[in-house]
Amino acid sequence: MVTEIRVEKVETSKINTVNFEHLPFGKIFTDHMFECDFVNGEWQQPVIKPYGPLQLDPSARVFHYGQAVFEGMKAYKDDNDNILLFRPHENYLRINISSKRLAIPEFPEDYFFEGLKTLLHLEKDWIKKGRGNSLYIRPFAIASEGAISASPAENYKFMIICSPAQSYYEEEVRVLFSEKYSRSADGGVGFAKAAGNYGAQFYPTSLAQKQGFQQIIWTDASTHEYLEEAGTMNIFFRIGDTLITAPSNDRILDGVTRKCVIQLAEDNNMEVEIRRVRVAEIKEAAKNGTLQEIFGSGTAAVINPIAGFGHGGETFELPKLENSYASFFKEKLMDIQYNTGVDDIHGWCYKV
Ligand code: COI
Repeated sequence: MVTEIRVEKVETSKINTVNFEHLPFGKIFTDHMFECDFVNGEWQQPVIKPYGPLQLDPSARVFHYGQAVFEGMKAYKDDNDNILLFRPHENYLRINISSKRLAIPEFPEDYFFEGLKTLLHLEKDWIKKGRGNSLYIRPFAIASEGAISASPAENYKFMIICSPAQSYYEEEVRVLFSEKYSRSADGGVGFAKAAGNYGAQFYPTSLAQKQGFQQIIWTDASTHEYLEEAGTMNIFFRIGDTLITAPSNDRILDGVTRKCVIQLAEDNNMEVEIRRVRVAEIKEAAKNGTLQEIFGSGTAAVINPIAGFGHGGETFELPKLENSYASFFKEKLMDIQYNTGVDDIHGWCYKV
């Protein structure tokens, strides 16, 4: 059993100041946060306290060397007011995989789950019922020790903050297939949810936005001929009735939603190919009319259909399908996430 979590509650909740009908993604945070320090080679007693700024030394290594990892999870509420998580163990395992790569000490499982449960029960009113509503949960770990020699820190902070959420993208998403930039190279940190993987995408994404695309699909660092993942999502292509996605590897995040889509496709006897996907193949399929859909999968984005793409000065619009695979997977996932009476055969729904 975890050391007891110390809980300091806010005097007055700010929940009444929040417009739950209009929630820009990731800008509003709940009343409390979970914090646990790693000092003297050990994780100390965790505390849940009012959400607020941290005091860190300006030389904290997180600022200088980006020693930081994070996760994205969501909590949902069903019609019986149960608080539900979706495959939280996957996030727990992955943050430690990421931490290991960034030389951050692994976080104990009981601290993680006890912290999460206590925090979610405290913030239960922030989790609204109804498909599309959720509480986005952001666990993260940072190097907090003040010292700027380029070596791993001795002190860290593991924190969990929560933000009520609706959809991640508010408009149609068009993507640019990258001709120059990549998420990662072999041997790099692409598989990890390392903060720097995302920060490094902002500049190329802003260039794509100037051309009218919301996101980039990264191509492999050595040839730029193969499609890898989008900045905030893994990516799926449907040619004819076959669903194709790139294998997760050193460069591509092993997305939880990605794994679920593959599993659901197999459960429903769909053709699935997990293999490298050539830019040329997708452009050819768009030209000959066999490219039916492209969609992204991720915790924040859930399943996001792609309306069109660009590459090499050419742009392509995708057909608007009535029975798209994207909406099929989204509905199936939401049925489990919101516990709407479906058979959760894989045990993905986790009651808190
Ligand atoms: C998530 O889907 O949780 C992510 O981590 C994407 C994030 C960068 C917004």
